[in-house]
Amino acid sequence: MFWIACLLTVPICAAATAQNAEALPNSRLMSNILSYVAEDSSACDNYFQHACGKYSMRHIDDPFTEITQMLDHKVNEHLVQLMDELQQRSQSSGFNESSVEAKALRFYRTCLEGPQSTRKMVHYLRLTSPGEGITWPQFKPRGVPWPKANFKWMKALGHLYRYGFTNVLVNVLVLESFENKNHLLLYLSMPSFKEDSQRLGNFLNTLAILHSMGVPKKSVLPLARKIRRLEAAVKVLTEGYDDDNSETWTLRQWEYKTGYAWQDFAESIVGHSLSHQYVVQAQHAKYFTVLKRLMDSTDPEVVANYIMARFVLYLMEDSMDSSEPIDCAKDVRRTMHLATNLLYEERFLDPATLQNYTQEVTEVFNQLRRQFLLQIGKNRLGLTSEEKRMVATKVQHVVLNIGNMPRGRDHRSFVSQHYEDLVFPLADFDYAREHLTLLEFRTRKKVVQLDQGALSPEEFFYMADPNSAMSSSPYYLIRQNVIVVPHGFLQEPLFAADSHDIFKYSLLGFVLAHELMHSVDTTGLQFDRHGNLLENDQQISSSPRFEAGVQCLNRNTTEFLNERIADIAGLDLAYSTYFQNNSQRSQTDFTTITPQQIFFLNLAQFFCGNVDPMNFVEHDNDQMRLQQMLNGFAPFHQAFGCPAMGNQPEKCQLW
Ligand SMILES: *[C@@H]1O[C@H](CO)[C@@H](O)[C@H](O)[C@H]1NC(C)=O
Ligand SMILES: *[C@@H]1O[C@H](CO)[C@@H](O)[C@H](O)[C@H]1NC(C)=O
Ligand SMILES: *[C@@H]1O[C@H](CO)[C@@H](O)[C@H](O)[C@H]1NC(C)=O
Ligand SMILES: *[C@@H]1O[C@H](CO)[C@@H](O)[C@H](O)[C@H]1NC(C)=O
Ligand SMILES: [Zn+2]
Repeated sequence: MFWIACLLTVPICAAATAQNAEALPNSRLMSNILSYVAEDSSACDNYFQHACGKYSMRHIDDPFTEITQMLDHKVNEHLVQLMDELQQRSQSSGFNESSVEAKALRFYRTCLEGPQSTRKMVHYLRLTSPGEGITWPQFKPRGVPWPKANFKWMKALGHLYRYGFTNVLVNVLVLESFENKNHLLLYLSMPSFKEDSQRLGNFLNTLAILHSMGVPKKSVLPLARKIRRLEAAVKVLTEGYDDDNSETWTLRQWEYKTGYAWQDFAESIVGHSLSHQYVVQAQHAKYFTVLKRLMDSTDPEVVANYIMARFVLYLMEDSMDSSEPIDCAKDVRRTMHLATNLLYEERFLDPATLQNYTQEVTEVFNQLRRQFLLQIGKNRLGLTSEEKRMVATKVQHVVLNIGNMPRGRDHRSFVSQHYEDLVFPLADFDYAREHLTLLEFRTRKKVVQLDQGALSPEEFFYMADPNSAMSSSPYYLIRQNVIVVPHGFLQEPLFAADSHDIFKYSLLGFVLAHELMHSVDTTGLQFDRHGNLLENDQQISSSPRFEAGVQCLNRNTTEFLNERIADIAGLDLAYSTYFQNNSQRSQTDFTTITPQQIFFLNLAQFFCGNVDPMNFVEHDNDQMRLQQMLNGFAPFHQAFGCPAMGNQPEKCQLW
């Protein structure tokens, strides 16, 4: 019936919808929320099922499985549109070939149009080498043995670091010094094998990798066994010698301590010569000592193949390996993060909108902060006045960065300057060559901070790792005391500037409160407002009530305790901030649902989804998170008329 009416009066239907979309943001958000609710599930028994039960059905045909992926997807679609527009503009004579958009477009087109052969791993490997004057073993001329003796694994790792490749045998990071975040140091340690991307996969996978590298067929199987055995042996070493703390050493001291040519290695990382008094942060001396024995007794060709296999895995991890427009947009987002932020901002957030969003988000954040400062003032933890002042000062100094852009610089000129020395010299589209160029560019920007120091607060933007670069979720930067809110986060249904405050506080507000709580979680409390490490005796995480609160939160043990702290304290803060002032306002004018219920239903939007519980990284799964937050939270039980709190565990409190 509805369909027929609509078909007959298309213009009116369309117009009516458009008008709806403009006039009624609250109703629009509300009906979206309600479309996920499974009324036949009780809110008290299983709130996730109640609030999110219909999510999978509604989004069964969509390429995302929860809200932040949905926002990411919208951003990626926008970027495809933007790239199409740039492509049009690039045909006209006025198009500036050295502009930021020209460079982004260039990589996007390489991704779309680059021949498949330029994406092959063999091609990547031909464009690289394990050092000056030596090729990878499989490219040696026919009939000549590969010059094993010229292969030096440390040199190879130093050489390949230019593409940001590390965490194989040695881990190299460029990190803020603990005592002074403006001073950056080389941090040398043993590798981690924790994540899937940090080790060879299963046996079949290893065979496939070796095959893709162009290793002769007959060598694939024996080499696969050998490099896997090598990795297993290294992993055993990392497990056996993970006992010392990181310390600062001069290169000479560290060489003496471990017996490696670190100076050479470090020079190859920074790209110029260094004094032997150059200071690095280093750890795991014993690991390095025993590693040396292992490496000396391993065939260099096996080592070269192991390094190469891990390099290939690294490269694969850093690319969508697809020439679909939406995947190429993701590739641009990942490899040219700052450029993407600028272009997105200029195209989709005109100055008035950007200013409006900034004000809206800042207002919510400032209210949360104000409320939290009141809470700190009440001093439930029984802190000394000195400690109280320290926490309050830290919270007062948390900075919001919207869009991950330098807040004190003109965005366009800053970004143009940033990409000044990025050039794609040749006209043909070669995916691997351009990808490697961008990896080198990205690494150089990071490494140069060793010489130049950290960016000033005015210029600060986070040089995001590839995964954060592609994500629209906010994050807290402990060493900068900054919360980054990517532009992509400020979209419906997560945020609508013209919606009722209750929507803003229950969803965006909760997420901001969660991030704010990271500034005072068990790790956050170890750093002062500048992001520098506090002396042991200045730390308050050992306050007895804080410890009791943390232990209470861990009754149902979680690996991600700080996330739970941020969730639970964040909910408490967002809720009290909103209802502190608005408890009298019993009803909104767009629905008969109570404000308290709206609050919790909208909060659930952040957790609704049909993601496999196995697929969560660095957090408990969403259902678990939501349940842990609401267990024993009195306002929730009141809102849904759940039975008295008798059988509910007592609520934990920190602040
Ligand atoms: C082209 O872009 C570059 C980099 O942003 C800039 O330095 C140059 O002035 C621009 N040229 C013109 C003609 O606008
Ligand atoms: C932002 O824009 C919305 C819709 O146009 C408006 O309702 C709201 O008051 C604006 N906020 C600010 C802080 O100007
Ligand atoms: C721990 O988890 C179980 C099952 O998931 C639940 O029944 C219980 O209430 C939880 N306890 C706390 C303290 O959250
Ligand atoms: C709550 O009320 C105080 C005092 O009137 C006001 O300054 C503050 O902006 C209000 N907070 C919210 C979240 O509206
Ligand atoms: Zn978090």
